Amino acid sequence: MPAEFAFTLNGQATTVRAEPAQSLLEILRDTCGLKATRLGCGLGQCGACTVLVDGEARHACDTSMEAAAGHDITTLEGLGSRADPHPLQAAFVEEQALQCGYCTTGMLMCSAALLRRNPDPSEQEIRQALDGNLCRCGVHNRIVRAVRKAAR
Ligand code: FES
Repeated sequence: MPAEFAFTLNGQATTVRAEPAQSLLEILRDTCGLKATRLGCGLGQCGACTVLVDGEARHACDTSMEAAAGHDITTLEGLGSRADPHPLQAAFVEEQALQCGYCTTGMLMCSAALLRRNPDPSEQEIRQALDGNLCRCGVHNRIVRAVRKAAR
C-alpha cells in the first residue's frame, strides 16, 4: 500500500508517495524528475545507479523507499552544476574520462564517496573503490587519472 516517505534530496526536504518496496531509483527518475541517475542492470551489479546515502555510495536500484526514508540522498544533480562543477566533474572533462557516458554518473558518485572518506587515495585505492562500477567503453585508466586529479 502506498505511503508517504520523507527524506532529504540534494539538500531539500522532500516527501513522496510511493510503495515501500519501490526503488529509490524509480522515484528519483520518475517522481522527482532527476534523470542523471541511470538504470543499468537493475540488479545491484553495475553501479550505474550509484547515489550518496548519508555520504556513502549506494545503489539506488536496490534501495527501497522504506530504506531511503529519513536519509540524506545526493544525486549527481546535487554534486555540482555546469556553472559550479564539483572538482570530480571538472577533472572528468579535462581527462576525457568518459566515452558513451552511461557509467559516468555512477563513477562520479562512487568517486565522491571515496574522496569524502579518503581525500588523497592511491591509484590502487581508486581502482578498488570503483571495482563495482562497470564501464563497457574501457576508459578506466582515464577515470582513475581524473579521480587522482580531483584529489589534488
Ligand atoms: Fe543499479 Fe546496475 S542499475 S547496480
